[in-house]
Amino acid sequence: CLSHLKWLLWMWRSTMIPRSLHVDSSLGGTVVLRCSFSMMPVSQSSSEEVRIQWIKLHSLLGDQVVLVAQGGRVKFGATFVDRVSVPTNPQSVQDASLTITGVSRSDSGVYICKVTHGLEETQSAVSLTVSGVVFHYRASSSRYSLDFTEAQEACRSVNASIATPAQLTAAYQDGLDQCDAGWLADQSVRYPITRSRPGCEGNLLQRPGVRTYGRRDPTERYDVYCFVDKLQGEVFYPSSLTDKITWQEAKEECERHDAVLASPGQLHAAWMAGLNRCDYGWLSDGSVRYPVTVPKVQCGGGMLGVRTLYKYNNQTGFPDPTEKHGAFCFKG
Ligand SMILES: *[C@@H]1O[C@H](CO)[C@@H](O)[C@H](O)[C@H]1NC(C)=O
Ligand SMILES: *[C@@H]1O[C@H](CO)[C@@H](O)[C@H](O)[C@H]1NC(C)=O
Repeated sequence: CLSHLKWLLWMWRSTMIPRSLHVDSSLGGTVVLRCSFSMMPVSQSSSEEVRIQWIKLHSLLGDQVVLVAQGGRVKFGATFVDRVSVPTNPQSVQDASLTITGVSRSDSGVYICKVTHGLEETQSAVSLTVSGVVFHYRASSSRYSLDFTEAQEACRSVNASIATPAQLTAAYQDGLDQCDAGWLADQSVRYPITRSRPGCEGNLLQRPGVRTYGRRDPTERYDVYCFVDKLQGEVFYPSSLTDKITWQEAKEECERHDAVLASPGQLHAAWMAGLNRCDYGWLSDGSVRYPVTVPKVQCGGGMLGVRTLYKYNNQTGFPDPTEKHGAFCFKG
């Protein structure tokens, strides 16, 4: 009940924020949350130090301290260490804006800036929305079959781009765990591990984090991590579809809806926007997947994400095109 009240309060407070104070950012990027204040000329010269406090409102866990700065000393909230800052001399610039680097989707929310100077206090709020998702992509042929050029092309062919290290790190912060080495845009090869386990220790051994092989020769072969931002259209599972169908039939089914088979990039973007469907469906590249946004034991074992159906137990190969599944269509 208490958490419900907090949630209502949070909803109320977020609707009070003017539109102009909504900031959009993309996964892994750097964002500045504006907060300026003014001080009386008389108080500017006073020896009293300005105290800046940034707080993130949280619907369920209570409010989180992001940072507290006073007279050159800065304290950070646990999840914000090393990635947030305010001007070093806020008094003279009358600016307490918060810079966040490497934003993840879990940074989305409402932030309150509180500036205290003696008895004066100003408060303002900014709302941040972070979009974008990183996903692991394996070619239909086998594990670790893509050289660097093919890896870039593979992401492009599924309506995504090869992810940057900053995007992969942000996705890891949001919980991505994948024990498969993949190319990134800077020609390095990495993989994100939230719980270390045998075979996935990499260079970090027991610690969680993004493992790296460093920059590699472009002819070496790995999987790839792709990035996709907001969906530019709609992905749907045709309501007319009651029987399972082959890949060719799925293609035709989407055409009947004036659409095309969705690509993995589009399905991941739709998943990020909330698409939930517990039926495997054909995609444009011949892969078969489904998106889970509502945890259910019988749908992906209660885990969230896009599930992929592989041909073999060792998680390689796409299903035979004559197999029968559902379909995900895309309309721009
Ligand atoms: C998705 O990618 C395919 C293959 O590269 C391309 O033909 C298609 O136009 C792209 N669709 C959109 C909506 O960008
Ligand atoms: C996965 O299994 C298939 C079929 O058993 C086999 O042909 C393939 O070599 C295996 N791939 C890997 C990477 O182990």
